Amino acid sequence: MSEIDPAAPLLLFDSGVGGLSVLAEVRRLLPHAPVIYAADNGGLPYGPKSEAEVAARVCGLLGRMAERYRPRLICIACNTASTIALGMVRDVLEIPIVGTVPAIKPAAEQTRTGTIGLLGTAATIRQPYVDRLEAEFAQGKLLLRAAAPELVSAAEAKLRGEVVSSAVYQRAAATLRDQPGGAAIDTVVLACTHFPLVEAQLAAAFGPGVSFVHGAAGIARRIARLCDGQAMARTQPDLALFTRGEPGLAALGPTLEAYGLTRQEVL
Ligand code: DGL
Repeated sequence: MSEIDPAAPLLLFDSGVGGLSVLAEVRRLLPHAPVIYAADNGGLPYGPKSEAEVAARVCGLLGRMAERYRPRLICIACNTASTIALGMVRDVLEIPIVGTVPAIKPAAEQTRTGTIGLLGTAATIRQPYVDRLEAEFAQGKLLLRAAAPELVSAAEAKLRGEVVSSAVYQRAAATLRDQPGGAAIDTVVLACTHFPLVEAQLAAAFGPGVSFVHGAAGIARRIARLCDGQAMARTQPDLALFTRGEPGLAALGPTLEAYGLTRQEVL
């Protein structure tokens, strides 16, 4: 294998700010890693899109970004994009691609009632990838799925400093609770990277006795393992990359800076 440029970044990709929940964990393990955080804000939200649309965007954009920025590794920090397009991206790019898939396995290990809730986007919850995870890891458990598109916009708004009504979180909780058997849910899989960003608000909406599971820490460990032994040196400030310039990006500035992203660019 050829020597990796110490300045080659890790590239984390999401439709919006959701992947910052993964970046936070990556920072803890790899504080010196040069990072590009890429948000396809021009395509946000992915949840209501078709499989073909998501796959085309993700493959096209990651191809362009890989050529332009030469990352050492790409993390698709988005469950929707990963459950649809992970295999396709791996087929065409020759660097390690780490995906983000619903944390059904740890949830199944952790539940005491045997009833698990899963909140994701409309596209994620219908993926055969999720059916396979359920069949493999949640046999004998009841897994109830619900789409929570409002939580994507809630997380986007929260990180722009806007106030979000608690009714949004209560509605998301109710879509799981109100399903047959839903009252017994004690573990909820946050199967969209936006949702850990509003975990405290969701916890208040679900009430006591419910815990939340997501994959960010595990994904960061996987990335750290794949980068084991590689030299890392930041030669310029970490970059937040967007696919469309828009006025709302200014409001995101303070959040991006808190995640160490002090430069912004539009692809
Ligand atoms: N953050 C994304 C996920 O993990 C999707 C949000 C969206 O674009 O709908 O699924």
